[in-house]
Amino acid sequence: MADARPVVWVSQPLVDAAIAPLRAHVELITTAEVTAWTSAQLAERLATVDGAIVTLNERIGAAEVAGASRLRVIANVGVGYNNLDIDALSAAGIVASNTPDVLTETTADLGFALLMATARRITESERWLREGQWGQWSFQTMLGADIHGSTLGILGMGRIGQGIARRAAHGFNMRVLYHNRSPLPAGIERAVGAAYVDQATLLAQSDHLLLVLPYSAASHHIIDAAALARMKPTATLVNIARGGIVDELALADALANGRLAAAGLDVYEGEPHVRAELLALRNVVLTPHIGSATLATRAAMVAMAVDNLLAGLDCAGRTAAAMPSALNAGEASASRAAAAGKGKKR
Ligand code: GLV
Repeated sequence: MADARPVVWVSQPLVDAAIAPLRAHVELITTAEVTAWTSAQLAERLATVDGAIVTLNERIGAAEVAGASRLRVIANVGVGYNNLDIDALSAAGIVASNTPDVLTETTADLGFALLMATARRITESERWLREGQWGQWSFQTMLGADIHGSTLGILGMGRIGQGIARRAAHGFNMRVLYHNRSPLPAGIERAVGAAYVDQATLLAQSDHLLLVLPYSAASHHIIDAAALARMKPTATLVNIARGGIVDELALADALANGRLAAAGLDVYEGEPHVRAELLALRNVVLTPHIGSATLATRAAMVAMAVDNLLAGLDCAGRTAAAMPSALNAGEASASRAAAAGKGKKR
């Protein structure tokens, strides 16, 4: 008798111990090496499976799921999901999920680490020392900007932004301003120690500006030459969200010409390619998109993706209605129902 267990594809090497529980319930196809999947390869893989666990590397939209008649769930391992075309997945009756919450504090830690490394010139100092340039202790060496007591601006005030605000207000006695689509309830503002301002005020008053907003057409290059021109020339800019939020050429120009003191970047518009204009600058700290990269958090993210996947496949005693973090459950099931009504296979 044919094996009726669902078939699940895992697109990249993740955390083996967190993936292992899936084996009891599904036919698992894993990927042993980090792989840059092309659109055609994704389409080929997705055409033969019921579920997939993917990462931000895999860009999946209408073309990639056009032949995926069995595919019911795509569980993205990450909180950001701009790699997925949610409308296209909904139309194809595929439910997508992400992994919020479990990475909030780890990513807020990284945001703060990058802020401190940038404002206090940590990586620049280390390079200089290793190059043998430290002749004598000098009063004027590697002067940076204070973090404690300064004004931190946060653009995008979701869970990670709030985690950063708490660290800043309660740990470093900073004045914390934020801008978001809408202000937080007053009780949350008080708890995290942050005050809502409009975007122009945020840009003008921040000694350090942290970008933590989701990437979308509306936030594409929201930090462009005009926005940078509104910032203090002594300010630090830190981006831990998505590269496309910043016009990197305008940023490199501002940094090279003294219109901004320093930047810390964990994300890039064309990552993993990093622009030569940024690599050439000494006043930029560059990390390779490691916001959630701790052992514990990466394991928790995979465990959450596995939970989403099993629920989405109605497997292991779970039901699709109980997916921990579905992004489009209603829309996907409406499309499925419509397709079933027309007698289509989905
Ligand atoms: C990482 O960037 C994520 O979105 O989880």
